[in-house]
Amino acid sequence: MTVKITKCSREDFQILQEISIETFNDTFKDQNSPENMIAYLERAFNSNQLEKELSNISSEFYFIYFNEELAGYLKVNMNDAQSEKMGDESLEIERIYIRYKFQRKGLGKYLINKAMEIAIRQNKKMIWLGVWEKNENAIDFYKRKGFVQTGAHSFYMGDEEQIDYIMTKTLI
Ligand SMILES: CC(C)(COP(=O)(O)OP(=O)(O)OC[C@H]1O[C@@H](n2cnc3c(N)ncnc32)[C@H](O)[C@@H]1OP(=O)(O)O)[C@@H](O)C(=O)NCCC(=O)NCCS
Repeated sequence: MTVKITKCSREDFQILQEISIETFNDTFKDQNSPENMIAYLERAFNSNQLEKELSNISSEFYFIYFNEELAGYLKVNMNDAQSEKMGDESLEIERIYIRYKFQRKGLGKYLINKAMEIAIRQNKKMIWLGVWEKNENAIDFYKRKGFVQTGAHSFYMGDEEQIDYIMTKTLI
């Protein structure tokens, strides 16, 4: 088995849009109404929004390949691109998604390790993320990787207010 992680550039826009929609849909469609899913997908992954995020120098996207097949992606934010004011010594994992058929093969772990490598290289002291309180699989996964819950914030899925746990991991 070969695993490869590559940094996305603006040329990857279309593939990134496709995998973002596919993985978000697969993860959340069973627990949310179709209307709220459509509203969220349209807001988060429309072409303008994704182009803006891809060209933000404080955000980075990475693809992960398993035996040359695209298996998932990672988005990290630094500085002002973070979705909460966590300060310049923090790095946010905003998105970490492994396509369904590639889950439980260790690839999520590779992407967390990649985020940690980026954070350490940039002398960050903390890595953090927001995870939906009902996403138990992901919460278990983050706990195994040493994250602890340190707060919560709300966000909107369509017109429904939902709670995200804030989980953090200290790097030094
Ligand atoms: C959560 C996710 C990123 C984990 O990636 P993955 O490649 O499936 O996980 P890995 O195979 O790397 O597993 C890493 C560890 O987490 C554990 N783990 C993974 N999925 C788990 C689950 N569903 N329940 C319990 N533990 C789990 C593994 O057993 C492994 O533990 P170990 O280190 O003790 O062996 C992936 O399943 C995913 O993309 N899920 C859907 C999208 C999602 O929810 N993203 C997070 C949004 S906040």
